[in-house]
Amino acid sequence: MIDIHTHVLPALREDDGPDSIEKSLQMIKMAANEGVTGIVATPHMLKPLPDRKAEILMAIESLGQDLVTLYPGTEVFADDHVIEQDNLITLGNSNYLLIEFPRAQLPQHTADIFFDLQTRDYQCIFAHPERNGSIVEDPNRLIPFIQAGVLCQINAGSILGRYGKESQKTAQIILEHGMAHFIASDMHSTQRRYYSLKEAVAEASKYTKNAQELVTTNPEIILRGDFIEPEEPKPYKKRGFWFFRRK
Ligand SMILES: [Fe+2]
Repeated sequence: MIDIHTHVLPALREDDGPDSIEKSLQMIKMAANEGVTGIVATPHMLKPLPDRKAEILMAIESLGQDLVTLYPGTEVFADDHVIEQDNLITLGNSNYLLIEFPRAQLPQHTADIFFDLQTRDYQCIFAHPERNGSIVEDPNRLIPFIQAGVLCQINAGSILGRYGKESQKTAQIILEHGMAHFIASDMHSTQRRYYSLKEAVAEASKYTKNAQELVTTNPEIILRGDFIEPEEPKPYKKRGFWFFRRK
C-alpha cells in the first residue's frame, strides 16, 4: 500500500504533525507494520512559504529511515495567495497536486480553481471531500469536478467513523458511486488519528469492488507520473431518513 496523504515529518512550519524525529519514526513504523511501502509526506501549505520544498526534502533526509519510501508533497490550501505561486509542490515530483478546501463550504469559484490549476498542467486531487460541508450536503457536487478530471481522496478515518456520522455516510456514498480514487490516512500522530489504512480498506470493500486499488494501483500510477482514467461517477439519489434529515 502507498499512503498519499500524511503529516509525518517532524516539526515543520505551519504543519500539525509530530514534534520530534522519534515520533515521526514511530508513525512510519506503524504504517510499515500494516504493509505500507510508500508514504507521501504532505505538510500543510496554508500560506506561501519560501523554501518549503528544500525544508521538506531536508526533513525526509533527517529521518534516515529505510522502512518505507518517503516522497515529498504538500496539502495545498485552496487560497488564491497559495495556489497562484509558481512551482507548487506536487506528490512525489509528479504533476498531481493535493488540494484542501475550507471545511465548512466550498468557495463559489471552486470549478475555476481546478480549471486554473489544470491549465497550468497540474492534476488536481481533492483532499477528503467527505469532510466538507458542501459535499456532505450534496455528494453529487463532486460529479462535475470528476468529469473535468479531478480525483478524490477519502480519509481512512472517515470510512471508520472517526470524524462523525456525516463524514462516514458521505464517504460511503462517495465510494459506492465511483467517486473515490484514493484512500489515505491523513495521519498526524501516533494517537490522534491512529493508523488504520488496512481496516479502512476492508470497510470500504463493503461499498466498492476496487477498494484495494485506491491504496495500491492508483497511488502507484500517480507516483509514476501516469494518467488515471476515472470511471464515470454515478449520481447519488437521496432517499429515506437521510433525505428527510438533510432537509
Ligand atoms: Fe491533511
